[in-house]
Amino acid sequence: HFSSTATQLARIQNVTIIGAGLMGSGIAQVSANAKLNVVLTDISEPALQKAQKSIDTSLRRVAKKKHADDAKAQEDLVQSTLKQLKMTTNLAEAVKEADLVIEAVVENIELKKKLFADVEKNAKKDAILTTNTSSLRLKDIGINLNNKANFGGLHFFNPVPVMKLLEVVRHDETSDETFKSLMEYGKAIGKTTVACKDTPGFIVNRLLVPYMFEALRMYERGDASKEDIDVGMKLGAGYPMGPFELCDYVGLDTTKFIMDGWAKQYPEEPAFRQSPLLSKLVAEGKLGRKTGEGFFKY
Ligand code: NAI
Repeated sequence: HFSSTATQLARIQNVTIIGAGLMGSGIAQVSANAKLNVVLTDISEPALQKAQKSIDTSLRRVAKKKHADDAKAQEDLVQSTLKQLKMTTNLAEAVKEADLVIEAVVENIELKKKLFADVEKNAKKDAILTTNTSSLRLKDIGINLNNKANFGGLHFFNPVPVMKLLEVVRHDETSDETFKSLMEYGKAIGKTTVACKDTPGFIVNRLLVPYMFEALRMYERGDASKEDIDVGMKLGAGYPMGPFELCDYVGLDTTKFIMDGWAKQYPEEPAFRQSPLLSKLVAEGKLGRKTGEGFFKY
């Protein structure tokens, strides 16, 4: 017995997500909510327990919004979604039946390279393997794969259950069939998909991160205060947050980490220059909202 979305999505029924952190737990939730069979795996048992809690909380929020005055419908939605979701720390077991694997472990190239070799060894031959990387090249992550045609990128946005966009990334060797299946998966989980190539930052971060650094440089030169830059972009450009507010939200360390990687890969690109001010704040442990202080205090 399949739901209508699942029937249309014949190619992908079983989805395995590796890494149960901020992103992986959200990806598991939206996949389970689309009636796909989901396995969430992590090397850390506490990470899985934390994911279980956060998915539960997030689902209850979704259910409350959808069925405001109907407690039973809310509970049904929560339970029917949780039923689609299994968790395990055993990687080989987790990927064995997967039609689609989505990797969402920490942003570390060596770790990801090795992980994909392990995944390919244990997965079905025709499984589609994807990464949720923000800043690494697919070409590098998939270097150890034998079947590169079945490898692509699914770049989600935080918080996954709320953000509508999914960037579907193809590298030079991704097959048309793989790409099509990934676009269909995106639609099945209710996202709007955009097609991207294997270029730094894909569409959104390639424009957003250099923009944030341009704002930093404007402030470093003393051309405007950070408060005025934020107000300017909110009221003048219609952005929901100014660049400094956004940097505090994303994390100053994360923002710097992305630019560090790009600057190293593309030393000639003027849009990928560092900011001394950002580096100083990160060194001082002022990482944004999560530490209580970044450009602003919280
Ligand atoms: P996180 O730190 O919240 O979660 C990472 C999880 O991976 C942890 O639970 C950790 O235990 C697990 N892990 C580490 N090594 C593992 C292994 N070998 N096998 C299985 N699990 C392992 O990280 P987050 O923020 O969820 O990011 C994950 C990926 O998603 C990164 O590649 C990141 O660049 C990307 N991303 C992050 C976004 C964000 O806003 N945080 C947005 C879009 C993509």
